[in-house]
Amino acid sequence: MKRRPLIAGNWKMHKTSQETQEFIESFLSDVTKFSNCDVLLIPPFTSLDRAGRLLSESHVFLGAQDMHSEASGAYTGAISPGMLVACGCDFVLAGHSERRYVFGDSDDVVNRKLHAALENELRPILCVGETLDQRQADQTEVVLEDQLDGGLKGIDERMLADIVIAYEPVWAIGTGETATPEQAQAAIAFIRDWLEMHFNKPAAAAMRILYGGSVKPANARSLQSQPDIDGALIGGASLDPDSFAQIIAAAQSLQGVDDPC
Ligand code: 13P
Repeated sequence: MKRRPLIAGNWKMHKTSQETQEFIESFLSDVTKFSNCDVLLIPPFTSLDRAGRLLSESHVFLGAQDMHSEASGAYTGAISPGMLVACGCDFVLAGHSERRYVFGDSDDVVNRKLHAALENELRPILCVGETLDQRQADQTEVVLEDQLDGGLKGIDERMLADIVIAYEPVWAIGTGETATPEQAQAAIAFIRDWLEMHFNKPAAAAMRILYGGSVKPANARSLQSQPDIDGALIGGASLDPDSFAQIIAAAQSLQGVDDPC
């Protein structure tokens, strides 16, 4: 099955609201059509409202990096699903490794966020991936199974269609060390097999699974040409409109659209 690629830029804690506007203006003036792939920007919370207004007439989707699972309440510092929707968000990350390892999000917390996102018509991107120690101890598949099991608890096949999974090996994030296309393909094929076993073959075949971890223009094409990799979740290389556009162009060209988007 041919799945539509998703190219997502996760800006993490980078760019003020003004810098976000400058990026979007430059990006939209260069990159006009995405006939064959979806493009998503995930700026910090403080940029979302402005980004939502600037992107409202474009084909670029908007996402948030995290959220609380409750609708409102005494949760100092937290942001609710409804607040993200009001800014124009379409997607939200759940369980990014920096949320798991720096802020302590457990699989249970991630699962609650996933359900809350779906209840609010936000499409969650469930992030999974092993640390270097876990890979070296041959634990990659066990870790992925645990994160999928915990993150997707209570999700049925119908809900699965609105979820994206991102495989981000922690050792490849922000390190410049990318998983080889074969390593990324093997882990993502394992995830797809897991989905087939726990849901069914058509649902698993339709699911978009992204790779993230030091994706840049130089390696984007070889990663995305793998059969099970349906796009990229990009940190550092998404902060510059030109390098982000080059990664989108690589995805487009593999879909048979050769003109730069
Ligand atoms: P880098 O592309 O900077 O390695 O970050 C990857 C990532 O964590 C995207 O969510």
